[in-house]
Amino acid sequence: MATPPVPDAELRRRVKLWRTCSGNLLRAARQAGVNTQAFTVSIDRAVAKGWVKQSERDRAATQHRAVKGNNDSEAALRKQIATLTAQVERMRNARPVVPVRIKTARVDDFVRVVIPDSHGTCIDPQAMGAFLDDLKALDPHEIVMLGDHVDCGGFLALHHTLGYVPETSYTYEDDISSANAFLDEIQRNAPHARIHYIEGNHEARVEKWCIAQTLRNGRESEGMRLRNAPEFLLRLKERGISYYRRAERYHDLPVPGTIKLGKTFFAHEPGRGGRPEQYAQRFGGCLIYGHEHRARGAVIRTVAAGEIGAWCPGTLAIQQPFYFHTNLTDHSHGHLVQIVAKSGGFLSINVPIINGVSHLRPLLDRGT
Ligand SMILES: [Fe+2]
Repeated sequence: MATPPVPDAELRRRVKLWRTCSGNLLRAARQAGVNTQAFTVSIDRAVAKGWVKQSERDRAATQHRAVKGNNDSEAALRKQIATLTAQVERMRNARPVVPVRIKTARVDDFVRVVIPDSHGTCIDPQAMGAFLDDLKALDPHEIVMLGDHVDCGGFLALHHTLGYVPETSYTYEDDISSANAFLDEIQRNAPHARIHYIEGNHEARVEKWCIAQTLRNGRESEGMRLRNAPEFLLRLKERGISYYRRAERYHDLPVPGTIKLGKTFFAHEPGRGGRPEQYAQRFGGCLIYGHEHRARGAVIRTVAAGEIGAWCPGTLAIQQPFYFHTNLTDHSHGHLVQIVAKSGGFLSINVPIINGVSHLRPLLDRGT
């Protein structure tokens, strides 16, 4: 997540541009050809180096807020960037976490970690930090990302009515940068994991946008998708990450956007408004799913399949998105750990992250 340091000459160029733009970070970043987050970090570094006085920085922020009504969103973004940067610095400077593999009875057993919706630039920094600490300690064999790892708001959410200025505070470039940084951290903390990434409804917004912009011309739509879809901007193929699209079928399953690993199905969105018991019944087997942003799970017993269950780990995104006024308290932070036996049997644990603290941590610290 941390922006790599830029050379002093480039830093001075950015300070000059920022002053030319009267302290308007968004405009200066655009002129510099970098995203706002990276540019803001540069100006803060210039303050730390003493090239820009803190008073000048504060005055520019205040002035800009007075001129532009929605600058509160920029302040919020700066605050979030500062928190994210501090979080990553804390993780990097912390005493090395000794990987503690959960002891399993047989060498063929392994640990799989499931990452729920994180929503790109809308990721919660504290939840992310707690999750990455767990990931490093677990050093899993496999990771499944359940989708919605970019938010794709703004112009990609034309089918929704956006009602709040802060919802317009980030660009698609910011969103992709955040998701790329999160993927960097995942791969750095889990270097041995094979990673599966299931497309969510938010990633799919880009494909819909491409089709709309090209007036449903198939070849043009595909051309636009190849240039703009998260799958490509996140460099998933180069990263060695398998991507599963909502409109395609995998593993000989009769429904698209669903995969099966061992004895477990994985899907972003198993249906609408159902309970985990219903989803397990619908899939006829064990299922781990995303989309709902709230930790839930249930086990049922059926005549045909015996005991089966469904689990949703929650979310790593902020818990109160602006549009979510109809149900204020349902979202919960967490991730999921599966301990999988060679036989395919497994233990599936929803790990709560509450106020930025993972409740798996005491177990890992004991090295059990
Ligand atoms: Fe989501």
